[in-house]
Parts: sequence; structure tokens; C-alpha cells
Amino acid sequence: MAAAAPAMRAGLVLVAFLLLAASGAGARAEGALPRFAEAPEYRNGEGCPAAVAGAGVCDPGLVHIAMTLDAHYLRGSMAAIYSLLKHASCPESLFFHFLAADAAAPGVGELRSALAASFPSLRFEIYPFRADAVTGLISASVRAALEAPLNYARNYLADLLPKCVPRAIYLDSDVLAVDDVRRLWETRLPAAAVVAAPEYCHANFSRYFTDAFWSDPDLGARVFAGRRRAPCYFNTGVMVIDLRRWRSGNYRHRVEQWMELQKEKRIYELGSLPPFLLLFAGEVEAVDHRWNQHGLGGDNILGSCRPLHKGPVSLMHWSGKGKPWDRLDAGRPCPLDHTWKSYDLYIGDGDASQASAPSWASLSSSALPW
Ligand SMILES: *[C@@H]1O[C@H](CO)[C@@H](O)[C@H](O)[C@H]1NC(C)=O
Repeated sequence: MAAAAPAMRAGLVLVAFLLLAASGAGARAEGALPRFAEAPEYRNGEGCPAAVAGAGVCDPGLVHIAMTLDAHYLRGSMAAIYSLLKHASCPESLFFHFLAADAAAPGVGELRSALAASFPSLRFEIYPFRADAVTGLISASVRAALEAPLNYARNYLADLLPKCVPRAIYLDSDVLAVDDVRRLWETRLPAAAVVAAPEYCHANFSRYFTDAFWSDPDLGARVFAGRRRAPCYFNTGVMVIDLRRWRSGNYRHRVEQWMELQKEKRIYELGSLPPFLLLFAGEVEAVDHRWNQHGLGGDNILGSCRPLHKGPVSLMHWSGKGKPWDRLDAGRPCPLDHTWKSYDLYIGDGDASQASAPSWASLSSSALPW
């Protein structure tokens, strides 16, 4: 770009100042949501299941996706939704179930408006999640972000979603689909399996639990004895969950029992993941690794960039410390963050109730500090 004219440069400084002021924690109104562009409209192609009149959420042709929704990760959720719709052969058959913390700002109404503005024909429901129901169960973990109550919302899917929903794909908010999610939906779950997810058997499974766990004769290897296969690590950011089996096996209660034990006796360091390993490692139905190309958020301590693992990619997952939107905003994106950027609907901070962006021209220069 050629050297900017002085007037234009002054304008850029003004814009930069206003953006800084707007992004400051104090300047942002409580509960004000960022603003997002409207995504393109996607329609069902040939061969999609015909909608059953009046069936609503109980329509057997639907693919059910469950995600959490909060102000902090909303930009990630929006990109994830957009990517799922864009790559779906039957986008109108996707039904989204969003779990949002009940007492938090923004409220359900505001989240609903934000979703409807970006995805006018999205089929979804928002379920208020009682965060205080889990806060008493949460123990401190290695990363503060892992302690947020909404991280534990996946334990409550079977309680919150309508009983007619037979299974759900749970997805973290820092994912992008680059393939038709129906392929993942159609994963066959043998009678013994409640959860399907990609497994990582080369990861050192011992590392996910403390010495206190492994050395306890009532815990350790005994917990995993008699499983269908040797226990392996799996990531809970992408799971297909059979909700009926989850309910009949009372797994919510079983997760909570492990969380209770963790409070008494530190058996693991991570947040919501280990109870899932304790209950399902060696029992999960393995899904192709293409459905969780995880770790793109980078190293947990250094936040350094990580490349994709070998093999095909259907879903990219920015698990780990760094998030693509933060790195892009900071001007230090990792190479794969540019892929995420192509699904980013964010157009600026501001109050979602404001119909239009502020007009720079109407600002009086006397209001500025110089
Ligand atoms: C796995 O991790 C445990 C605990 O950190 C360690 O003692 C063990 O040597 C590791 N095993 C391998 C094969 O690296």
C-alpha cells in the first residue's frame, strides 16, 4: 500500500483508539455481545430425509449437534456452526442444542437473537444450564479455563435434551468441520458402547491420573479391569453419545461420583475430561482420527503452533492453550488459523441491541483527548 495521506493516517489512529477503548473490559457494557455477519444460506440437496410434518425436534431424520454457548467462546461457536452447515449434505436436517449458563450474561434471549441474526433458518434450542449445580463439584485444575462450569455441561446433555433425541454429537466451541457431519452421525455404536470418539492409544494413559490414583489398590488398574479393550486416551471435545444408554446407565451420576472422589483425593489434574476416561476408556467405540484433528491450539504451556496430524481431515480442533481468534487479533496467527479465519463471522465489538455500527463521521472531535 502507498504511504497513507496524513488525514487518512489520523483517521486510522482515531479508529484504532476507538477500537482499543471499545475492547477495554471497563468500556464494554455488561452482557454486550460482539457483532456477527449473516452466514450464507445452505439448503438440503437431493436425497436428504424429508421433514416429518409436526415432528419438530423429534423428527427421526435430524442430526443432533450439542454445543455450549457463552460470551467468551461465541466467536468460536459461530464459526463452528457455519462450518457444519457449509459442509453438510443436508444442512436443514441439522438441529443444534446449545447449553448456556443460566445466571450468566448474555442471557438466553440475547444469544437467541445473535444466532438468528447470523443463521436465520437455523434449527436450534437453547437450554439454560444451572452452573451452580456443578460448581460445588469442581476441583482446581491445571488451567483455569478448564474449571468453567460450562465445561461440565456435556455431563448433563441426557438430562437437558428432549427424551426423543436418541443420540447427540457433542462438539467443543473451538472446532471447524470440513466434511459432512452426517458421516460422523452415522457411526455405528455396538450395544456395549455409550460413547464413540477417536482414541489415541499411543498417548501415555498413565499421565492422565496421579500417582495417588495408580497406587491405590481400590483404584488404578482395577478401575479398568474387564473393559472391552485396553484403556486409551480419547478427547471429550468430539463425541457421539447414545443418550438413551447414557440415561439408563445413570452416567451423569457416575461422572459426579468421580468428581466427588476427586475433591477428597486428588486423582487427576485436568478438568472435565478424566471422569470420562474413568468411565469409558477401553469401552468407547473408536472413530476415525479424521474427526478430531486436535491440539491446534498449541502447546498447553508455551502455546506454540501445532501442525495437523498425518492422514485425512474432517474436523479441526483448536484444543490447547491458544485460540485462533485471539492469535489472529494479536497479529500472530499460526498457519492453520487462516483456515479458521475463513469461517469467522465476527465483524466487531458492540452492543447486539444496536442496530448499526457507530458512524465515525458523526463523532465530534471535541470528545477526543487530543
Ligand atoms: C508413562 O507415564 C508414567 C507417569 O508419568 C511414567 O512413569 C511412565 O514411565 C510412562 N511410560 C512410558 C512408556 O513412557
